[in-house]
Amino acid sequence: MALADLRSRKAELLGSSTLGVTEYRLADREFESLRTLVYDLTGITLAENKRTMLEARLSRRVRTLGLPDFAAYCKLIDAQMPDGAEIRNMINAVTTNKTEFFRERHHFEFVKTNVLPKMSSTAALGLGARKLRVWHAGCSTGQEPYSLAMVISDFQALGPGWDVKLLASDIDTNVLQLARDGVYRADDISSVPPDFLRRHFLRGKGENDGKYLVKPALREMIAFRHINLLDDPWPLKPTSYFDIVFCRNVVIYFDKTTQRRLFQRFASRLNPGGYLFIGHSETLHGISEAFIPIGGTIYQKPVK
Ligand SMILES: C[S@@+](CC[C@H](N)C(=O)[O-])C[C@H]1O[C@@H](n2cnc3c(N)ncnc32)[C@H](O)[C@@H]1O
Repeated sequence: MALADLRSRKAELLGSSTLGVTEYRLADREFESLRTLVYDLTGITLAENKRTMLEARLSRRVRTLGLPDFAAYCKLIDAQMPDGAEIRNMINAVTTNKTEFFRERHHFEFVKTNVLPKMSSTAALGLGARKLRVWHAGCSTGQEPYSLAMVISDFQALGPGWDVKLLASDIDTNVLQLARDGVYRADDISSVPPDFLRRHFLRGKGENDGKYLVKPALREMIAFRHINLLDDPWPLKPTSYFDIVFCRNVVIYFDKTTQRRLFQRFASRLNPGGYLFIGHSETLHGISEAFIPIGGTIYQKPVK
């Protein structure tokens, strides 16, 4: 599905909820059971005020499946636990995937002006490996990892001798596919600086006319994987440690208990001195003491 289609699908669903014209009604018991399930499966909390949103987003599933009502949908969901196709579709429908290229631009500036120069000089002194590992946890449709990949590939000091890998993961299989495809509309790329656009994108032809395709060299820097952040253990090699973790605008949907546990686990996967970037409305204050706050929702794991 094209990015534009995914957007209009969600906009359509959200629009209908705003107008209060969803086709199917969620009874109290069904809302309780679906929101408990969504929480258990994804960590996403759905307060009472998200009821209309859930109703609108899942109404489309009920309609697509040709079911008479939410009672039948709940029955199907029960039968498909824990990992049937409809469980995946339900998760894809309830996630919120808003993202954009160079969102919260100061994070990319910080990597460019602080993290990369420090790593390259440490390696030049023989005090560190020429290796950079990044994890974008909750990458949505890919704009965030592609933005960072552009910044890294632009940083000349990390030359051919460097082993650079970005892991980009999400629980939503639809957005992950769009991220892998790397095809964006003109609207999407409006926040990409022109010289980056020239160097890292191709203008689409034929069915992709008017669209922009990420060049293979940039795409090859990133491994896109389906990872539920709640899964324990994560499907990562025991030897996988990261220098940078971006987990931005993901934990706003989680409660404090889930956040606490997640940040503890990120800390254990970061190299000493590694950086954690979270969203502008998120904080580790009162949640995790495993990091030093640098400012601007950037945190560092202590070196010792
Ligand atoms: C609002 S988007 C943020 C995208 C990007 N990080 C940014 O800041 O622009 C949040 C993403 O987190 C993902 N997400 C939510 N719960 C998750 C979970 N339990 N495991 C992995 N990803 C999850 C959603 O599917 C969604 O794509």
